[in-house]
Amino acid sequence: MNTKLSRLSIKDAILKIAIGAAAGLSAVAVSAQVSAQESAQEVTWSGEVAAIFQEKCQECHRPNSIAPMSLLTYAEAKPWAPIIRYRVENRVMPPWHVNPEIGIQQFTNDRGLTEEQRQTILTWVDQGAPEGDPSLAPEPLEFNDALVWRLEDQMGSAPDLVVESEPFDLAATTQDKWFRPTTPTGLEEERWVKAIEIRPKNEESRKVVHHALAFLLQQEDGKRGLPEDVDVPFGPSLFMEWAVGKAGQIFRPDTGKLMMPGSSINWEVHLHANGERVQNAQVELGVWFHDEPPEHRTILSMFDAQGPNSLDIPPGEIAVTQGTFALTAPARIENFQPHMHMRGKAMSMEAIYPNGQREVLSFVDNFQWNWQINYVYDEEIAPIVPAGTIIVTTAWHDNTENNPHNPDPNQWVGWGDRTVDEMAHNWVDVTYLGQEEYERLIAERSSAAR
Ligand code: HEC
Repeated sequence: MNTKLSRLSIKDAILKIAIGAAAGLSAVAVSAQVSAQESAQEVTWSGEVAAIFQEKCQECHRPNSIAPMSLLTYAEAKPWAPIIRYRVENRVMPPWHVNPEIGIQQFTNDRGLTEEQRQTILTWVDQGAPEGDPSLAPEPLEFNDALVWRLEDQMGSAPDLVVESEPFDLAATTQDKWFRPTTPTGLEEERWVKAIEIRPKNEESRKVVHHALAFLLQQEDGKRGLPEDVDVPFGPSLFMEWAVGKAGQIFRPDTGKLMMPGSSINWEVHLHANGERVQNAQVELGVWFHDEPPEHRTILSMFDAQGPNSLDIPPGEIAVTQGTFALTAPARIENFQPHMHMRGKAMSMEAIYPNGQREVLSFVDNFQWNWQINYVYDEEIAPIVPAGTIIVTTAWHDNTENNPHNPDPNQWVGWGDRTVDEMAHNWVDVTYLGQEEYERLIAERSSAAR
């Protein structure tokens, strides 16, 4: 076990005690709880838990992947049972931190536990994490560790363009690193993007690349492929985000992103040391193009939860900031990706419609700064909103000592690039629609609902 690991575990244990004490659980209350759980039906590794771990944990918790320990077998999982309980109870693991009751719940990339799975794991640990009858356990999964483009089958060919990041030399044990090189795409003509995938470039990188973002940097004079009345601030556009288990992104039919000649990719590669030095930690981006320009253009917007220079997070306090963004044309909102740093605690995205109605679209109430997760809505549910809708972004930063990730609760914190500074924005892919298209899509949805 490396030192980083045991430190985390201890922190979990301390937290657990602190929370138990704060909840005022007496020894009697605790034992009453335990006996209630004991009388529940027996839950075992072989019977129920192994199948859940196969579905929701093992992609990361196995050799050759990013998590610190393997959870493939009973023998591997059992010693971690108390820490698993704590992480699962608090919805930190698996990494999926959107509130399960508030806002949209249908996502294309959902890796959260269902409430039933969650309860099953908790009960299993409370019953002493028994193995049960090994002959009942599901067959072990087979993992394909070959470096392939996962979208190649679906797209029918290898990517049309591959861009790779510079290699990074990562020490065997070190703090997490954020590497931000820039690479020219080499494109000489305008192209419309149909699908994108990022992958680690080699076996070694697979173990240390925690996640990676690719921003598209390009010069644009007009508003190519957008309805007339749209007012979008052009900035660096987030192109693709990669995390373990994510197979890339195929844009919805008739939509795409525009790539200009002379563009480049600005990477943000989050590296997490895994006990071995990796000299060539590297990622690469594969891009598939449309033959013809698609009907709609998807643009990444930064919905800010702060006005200019307005992050002001006093020591020992929970600070709330809010920002608004007006959509000047009808649009489909494709996803929700909050971005904050170590003090980040929660973020919500709310819509105020032109008729005054308000709706919370998504709420991450359990933000974990080392997981920058993109919650992608299912196509049937992705909000289609009228021109004049206002998006309200609210961010909470916890600068108290109760935040286990807080490096120093006595420090004032403001906006900045370093992880000890803060940010508060939400990356959202917005597909702008013409008025007619908007009306057609709304009519289709309401007839489908009937
Ligand atoms: C997308 C990848 C991924 C998935 C899926 C995932 N984990 Fe993790 N897990 C990690 C990584 C990386 C870490 C170490 C960094 C961290 O704590 O965030 C971790 C840490 C943990 C820890 C804490 C270990 C310690 O040192 O204290 C536990 C416990 C855990 N995971 C359990 C689970 C369980 C149980 C599941 C499934 C229900 C699961 N994880 C799903 C990637 C994942």
